[in-house]
Amino acid sequence: MTKKPELDTAYSLKSPEDNKRLYAKWAQTYDHEFADHMGYALPARVADTFVSVVGSEKIGRVLDVGAGTGLVGQRLAAHGLAKIDALDISVEMLAVAASKGCYNAMIEGDLMGCLPIAADTYDFIISAGTFTHGHVDAAALDELLRITKPGGRFCLSINSAYFIPAGFEAAFERLAGRIHDLELRPVQFYLEGATGPHAKDNGVIALFRKSVT
Ligand SMILES: C[S@@+](CC[C@H](N)C(=O)[O-])C[C@H]1O[C@@H](n2cnc3c(N)ncnc32)[C@H](O)[C@@H]1O
Repeated sequence: MTKKPELDTAYSLKSPEDNKRLYAKWAQTYDHEFADHMGYALPARVADTFVSVVGSEKIGRVLDVGAGTGLVGQRLAAHGLAKIDALDISVEMLAVAASKGCYNAMIEGDLMGCLPIAADTYDFIISAGTFTHGHVDAAALDELLRITKPGGRFCLSINSAYFIPAGFEAAFERLAGRIHDLELRPVQFYLEGATGPHAKDNGVIALFRKSVT
């Protein structure tokens, strides 16, 4: 019998190709068998943080990176935000997100490579659950900065246990002249009362801006 996709498998992936294969199998059951069943609260918490930080600021173009099945977009839509764009390496995950009607453009792209997006395109980059074990490391930050407008804002979750090994601490030091207003807000990934081996997984929501010069 084929083993069902689950979090430990996802955390042990080694490459973008591994991610494509896993999420192709997981797309149809991800929301119900993983997110609902495990009490996965991170996309809602990232989206709520985004809305609280951006406040009444005029919302420009927003890109959800590692959008998956669109849980961030769904939550932003519930806050009344206009449709945003989605990027993911998995066409199967993007298809589920598209079916929910809360995104504009659906962009297939690899965050560990060059993205098919022009420089200085987005006002905001948002992401939940993608900067984590077996997925995307700090090398992606340079490409994300390229596609973001000067002064544009970031709201990204990063797994705590992944923060130093995946190079985020070093990257934020290296990028000191290119980003500003960095704030790391602690976040629990699952609902209070969730059970299971990952129930206490946690991280930070990294908030920062791309510098203007
Ligand atoms: C744990 S899911 C998170 C999905 C969604 N943001 C959420 O919180 O439910 C991680 C997502 O990252 C995507 N991903 C993994 N590696 C990627 C890469 N190199 N480039 C773009 N997306 C990637 C996967 O396809 C998957 O949809």
